[in-house]
Amino acid sequence: MTTTATAVTLRIQAPLDDGYADASPDELERRIAAAKATLGERVFILGHHYQRDEVIRWADARGDSFKLAQLAKARPEADYIVFCGVHFMAEAADVLTGPHQQVVLPDLNAGCSMADMADIDSVEEAWEALGEHVDLARVIPITYMNSAADLKAFVGRNHGAVCTSSNARAVLDWAFERGDQVLFFPDQHLGRNTGFQMGYDESHMRVWNPRLDLGGLSADDVRSARFLLWKGHCSVHQRFSPEHVAAFRAEHPDGIVVVHPECSREVCAAADQVGSTEFILRAVADAPVGSVIGVGTEIHMVNRMAAETPDKTVMSIDPLVCPCSTMFRIDAPHLAWVLEELVEGRVPNRVVVDADDAEWARIALQRMLDIT
Ligand code: 13P
Ligand code: SF4
Repeated sequence: MTTTATAVTLRIQAPLDDGYADASPDELERRIAAAKATLGERVFILGHHYQRDEVIRWADARGDSFKLAQLAKARPEADYIVFCGVHFMAEAADVLTGPHQQVVLPDLNAGCSMADMADIDSVEEAWEALGEHVDLARVIPITYMNSAADLKAFVGRNHGAVCTSSNARAVLDWAFERGDQVLFFPDQHLGRNTGFQMGYDESHMRVWNPRLDLGGLSADDVRSARFLLWKGHCSVHQRFSPEHVAAFRAEHPDGIVVVHPECSREVCAAADQVGSTEFILRAVADAPVGSVIGVGTEIHMVNRMAAETPDKTVMSIDPLVCPCSTMFRIDAPHLAWVLEELVEGRVPNRVVVDADDAEWARIALQRMLDIT
């Protein structure tokens, strides 16, 4: 179970008072700079690539979810880790940091709709149902980083591991050295795309629908599938279609298409390169000057790469904007608020994973770090 300093089970962000909500961008900038300077080395601000410009500019380090987890772990001197990202990332930081460190999420409503598609009760039910048909010792549960800490603890307890979009291949190779089947949650697309990359095809994969008995599968399916893929998805990435890729290519025949592995199999198959947000950033940086690059990921990141790479043309393959609405919740007023609270000696929006889950989640995360 996840708790915060102010709320035990519910994550509800109280509205900020008018002093923040009505402050001008210039005033917020001055206040954030002043609070950050006062806190000095005691605060370490992490920013995921999908954050708004008004937030990411204050980050001491930016990254994908894997890099941010590593960075949080590598900063024991900071008393406070202010995590500008979403709730599961802040939980992972809490699990990986020392007991003297406190992790703060500027807006508690910044969750992840994909992470919410798998909860501990449904995963435990699935595990029990599977156990009636297969030897669970040969099933390796793998959870994507985009999942609550109690699911990371579940895989820790059951000889599994966490993976991120940047190391799913290595983690799945590790899993198949230890078992015959993988239960992969919550993102079916990352599981499927990685399976194809490893040489498997649809015949080795079945989608587990947690709303149906035995995942909606026959006992034969359950026994024969190498990949049992949880029926979860990211609504931002699922929007991209092969038609977007085709339209981009028609307009830019020499263009390069780079997409995130949370996109569908068809989109990934049509792309030139597939990888995590950090991978996408590198792909853009490494492309020859003058390249036209069509990207399939969150729009704030795409727009920032376009602005920061003036010698190349970077655009979304989807002409309609597709922001991550939960990442978007973190804004300058919330960042100013948490920093000023910290200056006053109060710790707002602390994200804490309870001790037992934290221990097992740490084991599952450490397995991932050791594999990669
Ligand atoms: P990355 O690990 O690639 O940053 O992905 C996290 C995420 O939530 C993508 O939607
Ligand atoms: Fe979650 Fe999708 Fe937002 Fe990533 S982009 S944080 S997977 S909702």
